[in-house]
Amino acid sequence: MKLFIDTANVDQVAEIASWGVLDGVTTNPSLVAKEGNDFKETVMKMCEYVPCVSAQVTATEFEEMKKQADEYSSWHEHVTVKVPMTIEGLKTLNYCREKNITTNTTLIFSVNQAILAAKAGANYISPFIGRLDDAGQDGMELIKEIMEVWSNYDFDTEVIVASTRHPRHIVESAKKGAHICTVPYGVFTKFPSHTLTTMGLDRFLKDWENVQKA
Ligand code: E4P
Repeated sequence: MKLFIDTANVDQVAEIASWGVLDGVTTNPSLVAKEGNDFKETVMKMCEYVPCVSAQVTATEFEEMKKQADEYSSWHEHVTVKVPMTIEGLKTLNYCREKNITTNTTLIFSVNQAILAAKAGANYISPFIGRLDDAGQDGMELIKEIMEVWSNYDFDTEVIVASTRHPRHIVESAKKGAHICTVPYGVFTKFPSHTLTTMGLDRFLKDWENVQKA
């Protein structure tokens, strides 16, 4: 399973990339607004660390979305154009497929949307599980259903489990065979820790110190 980081903060990308576990980045307009930095510059810097950086179009009409897709994809070969799941978005996916522009469809909340995006040529789809959980539904159930459907056909579209909120989301996604999880920095930093690892290391170091003193 590939791991992406969901952020618009370049330092966070650099840190997780230095662990040797990072395969890509997803950004969205809210994350970019939160950091307050230049969008193009941010995306281009991130492209130096990973082979896949999602940059989301902000237009809502096909003609404008097309222009943004052309522009973003010209910035760097690692850019993936992120397109919202709308009818105009489907047209944009189809356009990008013809132009060989890599795409990620965002704001997927149903299996029907997932199928349509895949058929329109999305290279990636991003079902948002945390937001479904927040709305009182079971986000992981959507991943289960999508992966069931994917196992029946030969869609090339990879499934990015998005809107993840805690480490268990990543374990459950991996068990269901999702291709990718995109994870916020705060969740990423929880992965390496386990109380028994910390206690075990403390013991090893203390025992070693005692031997040196003897
Ligand atoms: C994914 O591409 C999105 O940027 C992201 O996962 C949204 O997560 P949120 O629901 O925590 O905002």
